Amino acid sequence: MSLRDILKMGDARLLRMAEPVQAFDTPALHALIADMRETMAAVNGAGLAAPQIGVNLQVVIFGSAARNPRYPDRPLVPQTVLINPVIVPLGPDEEEDWEGCLSVPGLRGVVPRWSRIRYTGVDERGQPIDRTVDGFHARVVQHECDHLIGKLYPMRVRDFSRFGFTEILFPQISAAEDD
Ligand code: NI
Repeated sequence: MSLRDILKMGDARLLRMAEPVQAFDTPALHALIADMRETMAAVNGAGLAAPQIGVNLQVVIFGSAARNPRYPDRPLVPQTVLINPVIVPLGPDEEEDWEGCLSVPGLRGVVPRWSRIRYTGVDERGQPIDRTVDGFHARVVQHECDHLIGKLYPMRVRDFSRFGFTEILFPQISAAEDD
C-alpha cells in the first residue's frame, strides 16, 4: 500500500471519462483499492474516485467510519467499493446540501443532487451491487461517480452565493479537519 497524491481541480486528468474495469479480483485491482483506502483515510475523506489519484478507471470507494471529523453529524454510509457504476434517479426530486471535495481543498458549495437513486455496479471481486438509497448516501454516490465522467462538484453549483472558503463559511471546522 502507498499513499497517493490527490490531483487538484485544474488538472486535466480530472476531466476525462474513466474506462470500465475489465478484470476483477486481480492483484493490480486490489493494490489500487488498497492505495485508495489508505489515501482516503489519511485525509478523513468520505469518498475517493480513482481518477483523483490519476488512475482513469471506473472505481470509487466511499463510506463513513463511526466518526468522521469532517462530517460529524452525517449518517453512516457502509464502506463500499463500487466499480463500473450506473446510477438511475428514482423520481424527479432533488435536494441541496453542502459538499466539499478532496480535489477542491478549502472550499465548500451547495450542490443539487437527486434525492433518491438506485445504483448498480460490482465490487472488486466482480460481485454485483444493487442498492436503492436516499439522502447523504445518495449524495456521496452521485459525487463520487461524477468523478468518473470528468465532473467536479463546482460544475454542479447553481447558486454561487453559496460557494466559498470553508474557514469563512464554517469557522467551527478546524483547519486540520478541512478537506
Ligand atoms: Ni470529490
